[in-house]
Amino acid sequence: MQDLTDLILSRIRDVADYPKPGIVFKDITPLLGDHEVFSAVVEALADGLRVDKIVGIEARGFILAAPVALRAGAGFVPVRKKGKLPAATLETSYDLEYGSAVIEVHADAFAPGDRVLIVDDVLATGGTAEATVELVGRAGAEVVGVSVLMELAFLKGRERLGQTGLRALVVV
Ligand code: PRP
Ligand code: MG
Repeated sequence: MQDLTDLILSRIRDVADYPKPGIVFKDITPLLGDHEVFSAVVEALADGLRVDKIVGIEARGFILAAPVALRAGAGFVPVRKKGKLPAATLETSYDLEYGSAVIEVHADAFAPGDRVLIVDDVLATGGTAEATVELVGRAGAEVVGVSVLMELAFLKGRERLGQTGLRALVVV
C-alpha cells in the first residue's frame, strides 16, 4: 500500500496562493491525467466494500465517484449544489469558511436500506461529508462509509464523521 501512497503523493501538485493568498491548493489534475494512478485510486476507494450506490459530491467528487460506481458494480447518485437537480429533492445546509451552502439529493435516489458509499476528493473540515451523510440517511439509505482521496488531517474533519467509517488514501 505504501507504493500507492507514494504514487498518489507524486501526482498531487501544491499550488501556492490559490484560490487566495496564503492558501496552498492541492491540485489532483496530474493524478487524473495518469491512467495508472487514476485506475489504482478508483480501485482502492471501494475495495472490499459491498454497496448498492456510490454517492458523489459536486463537483470534484463526481470525477472519482462515477468510475468507482462502475468498478464496484453499483449505481451512481449525485449530491448537487442547490437548484441543479430537476425532480423532487431533499436538502440540507452546511457551514463554509464564510457563510453556508445547501446541497440536495433526489428524494427517490435510493431504495429503502440501500448500502451507500460516499466518495469525494478531499476531506477538509468535514462539513461537506457530514452534511452528505445526514442527507443520505434522511433519504432512507444506509451509509456504510466515506472514502476520499485525501484527508487534510490538521482540519480534523474525521472527528465530525463520528461512527461513519472514513477511508482516506493519503493523509496530508
Ligand atoms: C471541496 C472539496 C470537498 C470539500 C471539502 O469542495 O472538493 O468537497 O471542499 O471541504 P470540507 O471538508 O471543509 O467540507 P468545494 O466545496 O470547494 O467545491 P468543488 O468540489 O465544487 O470544487
Ligand atoms: Mg468538493
